[in-house]
Amino acid sequence: MSDNLTSIQKKAFTELQAASTESDVYLIKSRYLGRKGALTQIIKNLKNLTADQRAATGKSINDLKNLLEQEINNTLQHLHDVQKQKKISQQDLDVSLPGRKLPLGSKHPITTVTEKILRIFTSLGFEVIEGPEIELDFFNFEALNIPKNHPARDMHDTFYLSDELLLRTHTSPVQIRTMQQHSPPLRIICPGKVYRCDSDISHTPMFHQVEGLMVDGDVSFGDLKGLLGLFVHRIFGEDTAIRFRPSFFPFTEPSAEVDIQCVMCKGEGCRVCSGTGWLEILGCGMVNPAVFRNVGYDPENVNGFAFGLGIERIAMLKFGINDIRLFFENDYRFLSQF
Ligand code: DAH
Repeated sequence: MSDNLTSIQKKAFTELQAASTESDVYLIKSRYLGRKGALTQIIKNLKNLTADQRAATGKSINDLKNLLEQEINNTLQHLHDVQKQKKISQQDLDVSLPGRKLPLGSKHPITTVTEKILRIFTSLGFEVIEGPEIELDFFNFEALNIPKNHPARDMHDTFYLSDELLLRTHTSPVQIRTMQQHSPPLRIICPGKVYRCDSDISHTPMFHQVEGLMVDGDVSFGDLKGLLGLFVHRIFGEDTAIRFRPSFFPFTEPSAEVDIQCVMCKGEGCRVCSGTGWLEILGCGMVNPAVFRNVGYDPENVNGFAFGLGIERIAMLKFGINDIRLFFENDYRFLSQF
């Protein structure tokens, strides 16, 4: 019997050594340990032995069974390792390839232009001041010399929240809030979101403005012209021509609108400038004495100028964008160009 076991062990080990795949190993396992396997047959025959023989042989059989199971597992593990090693060595791993780049975000063009505008004015001594987007009728209109039922209100397509509360239609109310709280002299620049019920290729219900205000004892329209000329040259380039056109705003007197030479056709006349060669970019003027009175300043002793501009308009002209709505669609293809 023990000869028989020794020869089974020898044969099984030789076969396991020759196995080259996992399924070879499983076949060997069933050949020896399976229901009809060689070792199982011997166990079945134990019943024909005497009790003493049975005890001794049973132990040998058990030892062999454990030994075989152990060897089968070792062989499986070995084949698995070999397979893995082969896979790794077959993969073309080029360690000199550049790594995968994670896409980096960038600033929104409106943020970029706002920061540029603020940098220009702060470098000239203007202080950045912000105000609320939900505003009182008083600050947005009344104090700026636009009383109820004044025709100038029609220009603003206001979102009213109640009789007295509204979404501010411009950043000019920040002028009023600041003057109410601080005495002159003042030099402030006020960026922020504004709202008007309007939507087409050049209007969105929310857009951005920057308001400027300078108040002192002896400010002239010449100072205003000099400042805005410098601003335009820094934004659009030294060779950009600029002109002032008389206009009307209730909060400034006299008032003007500023045009720059068309950035597309350089003044030749094209579709963008409707053939005029000029593009309107901002409104401005000398602060109306009525406004000073509304905030408790004495217009006999102080004067000043104010101006307001739309940031989207500046960004569109600077980057050649023809539809304002593109700024707010958050299309990655649009935004990643800046
Ligand atoms: N608030 C005006 C608007 O939204 C722009 C403006 C014009 C502001 C003239 C001013 C100014 O301060 O003096 O259309």
